[in-house]
Amino acid sequence: MEKKDIFILAVESSCDETAAAVVKNGREVLSNVISSQIALHTLYGGVVPEIASRKHIEAIDGVIGQALTESGMTLQDMDAIGVTYGPGLVGALLVGLAEAKALAFAADKPLVGVHHIEGHICANYIQNKDFAPPYMALVVSGGHSHLVYVSDYGRYEILGHTRDDAAGEAYDKVARAIGMGYPGGPKIDAAAKKGNAAAVKFPRVFLEEDSYDFSFSGLKSAVLNYVNKQKMMQLPIVPEDIAASFQEAVVEVLVEKTIRAAKDKGVSKVALAGGVASNSALRERMRQACEENGFYFSIPAPILCTDNAAMIGCAAYYEYMAGVRDGLDLNANPGLKLGER
Ligand code: KG4
Ligand code: ZN
Repeated sequence: MEKKDIFILAVESSCDETAAAVVKNGREVLSNVISSQIALHTLYGGVVPEIASRKHIEAIDGVIGQALTESGMTLQDMDAIGVTYGPGLVGALLVGLAEAKALAFAADKPLVGVHHIEGHICANYIQNKDFAPPYMALVVSGGHSHLVYVSDYGRYEILGHTRDDAAGEAYDKVARAIGMGYPGGPKIDAAAKKGNAAAVKFPRVFLEEDSYDFSFSGLKSAVLNYVNKQKMMQLPIVPEDIAASFQEAVVEVLVEKTIRAAKDKGVSKVALAGGVASNSALRERMRQACEENGFYFSIPAPILCTDNAAMIGCAAYYEYMAGVRDGLDLNANPGLKLGER
């Protein structure tokens, strides 16, 4: 008997992107609509939660309608509705969740709640059609830095996480300190290409010898101290050099820990995920390190690294196939842990 195709309408609104997508059999993206609020939040130097919620409300109907239209399908054609229900900004999450619940109820479709980080990891399945567990995943975004051993679909063991700032948060804060504005990641990435990574020796924070945790707040302080010292001594500040030197310190630690974790777990595949995975230096250095160690390296295209709903549709597919169904009482959970429901 021929296997039935599974179509999922996915919704994502955990931070500052309102997104909807239609995904076929988990890995084929029929539409992927993203309405970004970044330009608006740039005015305030970061995401303003109340504004994010209001903008999600304004955008969500149109974004979902467009995702369905572009896929050439209707709500009735869907097998399930997948939605991010945590972690994230609670007011922002609630908008997507309320909308997904309303659609599930109106069209009588199953609802599948998705963990945002699981979504980021699953972007790799969309990018590489044959990619499958087991593998080591490094998830680096504005809110998270996690080293995750993925033993099977939906099975996650968190080996390490950040003890203070997330990698993307450090990029954003350092960018602000050197006058580059929000969001800092892409701006530092671009500036670093014109700078000298050996110009300033910033600390590499590896923590305890066997630790897989990260810490980026000390590095951020080191950059701030350096900038203040230069100013006080009336010495030149070269933002490109600071950007390149800071980025070097971040990337070196991320790559070293990921490779060590893969070796320790005996896996030969490494995947990158999250907004910071679109960083050109991290992509290149992780690729090199994987090549040197004979590891397969998976990395989503930049558009699948930053927040989107296609990755949520992929994660929802595997949850749906595993039998996960959520009730209309599903609530937003801003502190949701990976692997918990
Ligand atoms: O995954 P994401 O879109 O949202 C969260 O779930 O947090 O990640 C956003 C983060 C921001 O901190 C942004 O500065 C960072 O990803 N980012 C980058 C780059 N593009 C986005 N960081 C470094 N280099 C980039 N090219
Ligand atoms: Zn994200």
